[in-house]
Amino acid sequence: MDWGMQNRLSRIIKEDGKCLLMPIDHGYFQGPTSKLEKPGETIKQLLPYSDALFVTRGVLRACVDTAENIPIILRVSGGTSMVGKDLANEGITTSMKEAVRLNVSAVGMSVFIGSDYEKETLLNLGRLVDEGEEYGIPVMAVTAVGRELEKRDARYLGMCCRIAAEIGAKVVKTYWCEDFDKVVNGCPVPVVIAGGPKAETEREVLSFVHDGMQRGAIGVNLGRNIWQNPYPVPMIKAIRAIIHENASLIEAVEIFNIEKNQMAKAVAV
Ligand code: 5RP
Repeated sequence: MDWGMQNRLSRIIKEDGKCLLMPIDHGYFQGPTSKLEKPGETIKQLLPYSDALFVTRGVLRACVDTAENIPIILRVSGGTSMVGKDLANEGITTSMKEAVRLNVSAVGMSVFIGSDYEKETLLNLGRLVDEGEEYGIPVMAVTAVGRELEKRDARYLGMCCRIAAEIGAKVVKTYWCEDFDKVVNGCPVPVVIAGGPKAETEREVLSFVHDGMQRGAIGVNLGRNIWQNPYPVPMIKAIRAIIHENASLIEAVEIFNIEKNQMAKAVAV
């Protein structure tokens, strides 16, 4: 791999080979998502615990301080909305020239495999990878399912990850599922776990993150289950401990509870 490409990847994936990526890109099709109405406010307390931000150029320019030394993964696909006909009908919204101008460490886009727009999104991925190779910018593919969350099983996600890697993605982001090792083992590039809608309990989130890491994921790209939690900092600290300190599920739950109680006490004083 060329020096520039490797250097950018190593900004995102830390020395231990793991990463905690923080997505705040949801507005590109959802508008002002709950708790992300003011992205700059939401991320302020989370930046010290995040290895990279997944963000669109609009929010990057408007809400992230240029002095921040956090690696950026630029969301470059879009063109659809929650109220439009089909979330899968995405195109490329942001050029590679913009990515270079914004000094990003990677670009990210969604592919919608099995949808009416499978071919378009996969060909877009191919074109983005070609441009990324030219400039030394890695591409992260997101295996998106739109509203069809029930699609998330090892057979389907394993196929999506493999296809994205075959087309040239350097990292693939996909949902956690039962038998996650089958997804990872069929994918020749690193896999990160996406979060999905907010889960019922913290334990549920910590449990799928822990299981996914044990089964070969290199990290997470997990947003709502951190910043929609009433205690986002305890949550990110617990997830970070699983990723970078190999914490067990019990230890991670304990970290969350201790941090949460300390915060609750500090607020009460
Ligand atoms: C939207 C995305 C988000 O980055 C992704 O959904 C991760 O965020 P969350 O953990 O909130 O699901 O790719 O398509």
